[in-house]
Amino acid sequence: MEQHFKPKSQDQLQAQVEEFGDKGVKEFSDDQKKILKYSSELAKIDDINNLPSDLSPELVELINSNQKRYGNFLCKLKEKKKEIQFKKENIELFKEKFEPAIKELKEKIEKNNAKDQYLGSGSNGDAYWIEIEGKKYAAKFSRSNVQANFEIKPLLRAKNIKNAAQLVAYSFDYNVVIMELLPGKDVTKFSYSNVPEYSDRDIIQLIETVKELDQNDIVIDPKPSNFIYDEKNGFSVLDFHLKKTNNNSLPESIIDLSTVLTTGKYEDHILSRSDYEDPNYKEKLAKQTIEWNKSYLPMMVRFLTIIQNKYPDILEEYKRIYAEKEANPRISSSPIIDREHIPTDHPDLIPHLKKLEEIGF
Ligand SMILES: Nc1ncnc2c1ncn2[C@@H]1O[C@H](COP(=O)(O)OP(=O)(O)O)[C@@H](O)[C@H]1O
Ligand SMILES: [Mg+2]
Repeated sequence: MEQHFKPKSQDQLQAQVEEFGDKGVKEFSDDQKKILKYSSELAKIDDINNLPSDLSPELVELINSNQKRYGNFLCKLKEKKKEIQFKKENIELFKEKFEPAIKELKEKIEKNNAKDQYLGSGSNGDAYWIEIEGKKYAAKFSRSNVQANFEIKPLLRAKNIKNAAQLVAYSFDYNVVIMELLPGKDVTKFSYSNVPEYSDRDIIQLIETVKELDQNDIVIDPKPSNFIYDEKNGFSVLDFHLKKTNNNSLPESIIDLSTVLTTGKYEDHILSRSDYEDPNYKEKLAKQTIEWNKSYLPMMVRFLTIIQNKYPDILEEYKRIYAEKEANPRISSSPIIDREHIPTDHPDLIPHLKKLEEIGF
């Protein structure tokens, strides 16, 4: 029978090299960094035993040291078909739809910071919005391509989870991850006077999102900057990770949301540097503590009451885990309602503290 061989396209070969860089070498290794960086150049090499004479010494070294591993990888290519197909589609989508806008944005950032398109930053990168065909997206530039490669994994796992960041495309040439633009602002952007009044519905929906992520083996990073809020859509979650054995449990993750719900209310009460020299510093500090608790405690009552009524198992499990950690001398733990640092005899705070005690805090 006659056989037909069709040469693989450049994009297909690049996807193959990316898959090797992703799974064939050690995560976060130097080789991974180089393979992902040079994937399109590596894909142009036809014959590994007959390298072009003008190839850079860095690439020659990279190829030589990975030749055997790549050979083994090629033998198992059939098993990787789905992953390679996904990567190929991403390469095509990025080139066609996003590359021009990302190029333009990068130049704009270098020239004038692109302040008008800036969304926010975290420890791993800076995010900007871009608009393509009338639709807005979030483009997050990672510090490196291995970091971008790492961040894609939980995003893939979170596909179609409502109110969670959604991956659209990515590129290792630009170290960029493109996501659907989540509506609203991250909660660190609200200050005391304009923190929204989160409704019970908002809070329940946030807990449900965290639960659904957990069911998909994803754990949240409870930093407030990872939570976006919008009055119409409620809370959205970004910047989450694949679960590992030493991660926080679901009940702990849910209780951690208290930080998200009370952010902003706090910052404006923090005394400034100059206040340290104030002769009334102690008095001011005491007043600050009271003010802060006046907004913190009612929110905690509301939050914990919701959990008690709607998720009693989670509350019990949290208490059990907390008691266990508290009994462990190697772990330092402080309760979420820390009476040592609350003026417990203040008349404005007593009613809230009483309610919290009834819930067991
Ligand atoms: N999909 C998105 N929609 C809207 N804003 C976003 C999106 N992704 C990131 N941001 C903004 O960019 C900031 C940093 O993004 P994040 O993914 O949390 O980065 P890091 O991993 O560095 O913490 C966020 O706090 C948020 O303000
Ligand atoms: Mg973040």
